[in-house]
Amino acid sequence: MTTPIMSDAELRAAVERELPGVRADLERLVRIPGIAFEGFDHAHVERSAEAVAELLRGCSLDVRIVRSGGQPAVIGTRPAPPGAPTVLLYAHHDVQPVGDLSLWESDPFEPVERDGRLYGRGAADDKAGIMAHVAALRAYGDTLPVGVVLFVEGEEEYGSDSLERLLAEHRDSLAADVIVIADSANWDVGVPALTTSLRGIVNFFVEVRTLQQAVHSGIFGGVVPDALTVLARLLATLHDDAGNVAVEGLSGRAGATVDYPPERFRAEAGVLDGVHLVGTDRITDRLWTKPSLSVLGIDAPATAEAPNALVPQARAKISVRLAPGDDPKQAYEALCAHVEKHVPWGARLDVLLEQGGAPCAIDATGPMFDAARSAFRTAWDGTDPVDIGIGGSIPFIATFQEMFPQAAILVTGVEDPQSRAHGPNESLHLGEFARVCLAETLLLSRVAAVGTGGGSVSKP
Ligand code: BES
Ligand code: MN
Repeated sequence: MTTPIMSDAELRAAVERELPGVRADLERLVRIPGIAFEGFDHAHVERSAEAVAELLRGCSLDVRIVRSGGQPAVIGTRPAPPGAPTVLLYAHHDVQPVGDLSLWESDPFEPVERDGRLYGRGAADDKAGIMAHVAALRAYGDTLPVGVVLFVEGEEEYGSDSLERLLAEHRDSLAADVIVIADSANWDVGVPALTTSLRGIVNFFVEVRTLQQAVHSGIFGGVVPDALTVLARLLATLHDDAGNVAVEGLSGRAGATVDYPPERFRAEAGVLDGVHLVGTDRITDRLWTKPSLSVLGIDAPATAEAPNALVPQARAKISVRLAPGDDPKQAYEALCAHVEKHVPWGARLDVLLEQGGAPCAIDATGPMFDAARSAFRTAWDGTDPVDIGIGGSIPFIATFQEMFPQAAILVTGVEDPQSRAHGPNESLHLGEFARVCLAETLLLSRVAAVGTGGGSVSKP
């Protein structure tokens, strides 16, 4: 028996029918505070994996919870009808910590709707990604025209340390013609996007030391450099006066074609009036195809407790986003060489790598990308998707590209510019979510129509 082909209208009706249940299950997932970071109760991550497994079993998938030393991931499979392609659907079930609770207008783990948005940690990033996959599977019921592999990771926000091993161990069950990574964003409310590049990441610590111990700032100040001043001078060498990254050996280029008007950017980021935007070239170049460097934190005496003493040592955490095409290892070497060369006054310097992750660029051409664009256009009532870069990172996309060079990688997502992923008051635009669910449903039938072998080789 061949799988009956559902029309776009039938699929639209089926998604409509499923949305209330999908919304209820999304809320159920948001109530589970599954945070993979060290120091958090990982029993919640286990519960979260269980809940995802249960949802996938409900879609008649063959489900396993797997791990390789890290947090649990869920793999659910359903074989392809004869001759049909297989699609890997990725999302992650872990979430970011909530930060300062007093900044949340409602409990991060008690989802609530306000003004058409669902608020809660993970409501967008990335539990809505999971539910978009589930929505598509439910819409088809037993008439799914493709094979699927659901892969729902449990430690993406903590750097996916064990993911490479997991992917290697389960390579055979993960093989697919198309990979859909529902962990990115759309361009605006009402304007869908296909993500075609992401930046890489290098996070590292620099520590400077000038004294064996703190000493009286009056007795010794003026002759002995304090470590905090040393650190400040070192950090100041990392950008030029215009705010471009001034580290030799990091790659980056201009060349984005999408315009992001500065006023829109300022409003979306919440930049205070009068504060300049840093860097040159288009905003989209600065966000997507050039490196950025930020200081995330400093360890030094807190001002409230700082005595009149010279600070003997100070440490900063630096985060660098790498342009597509750059290499985290080479970039880290360039960063080490820079700080070694620029540390002032002979201060002792220690550098420690925290985390590195590869950037990626996707050649978004070929029949599977056409299929995706057609599905998006239909779901957004005639609005074409924009090809965007993302300044954030999903390092394992590069791993997928290496493992499955023939597969087309479609990076989709549920976030919009107001989603505030990682921040307080994260939320999901429910109207856009409905379109995301429809788009993914339509995508599967278009992928089925392309058949196997429709992938293009994605360039690293
Ligand atoms: N979903 C994000 C990636 C992303 C960021 C997509 C911005 C769209 C817009 C992902 O969950 C994430 O935050 N990744 C981390 C990666 C890190 C832990 C290696 C990031 O970018 O900080
Ligand atoms: Mn995410």
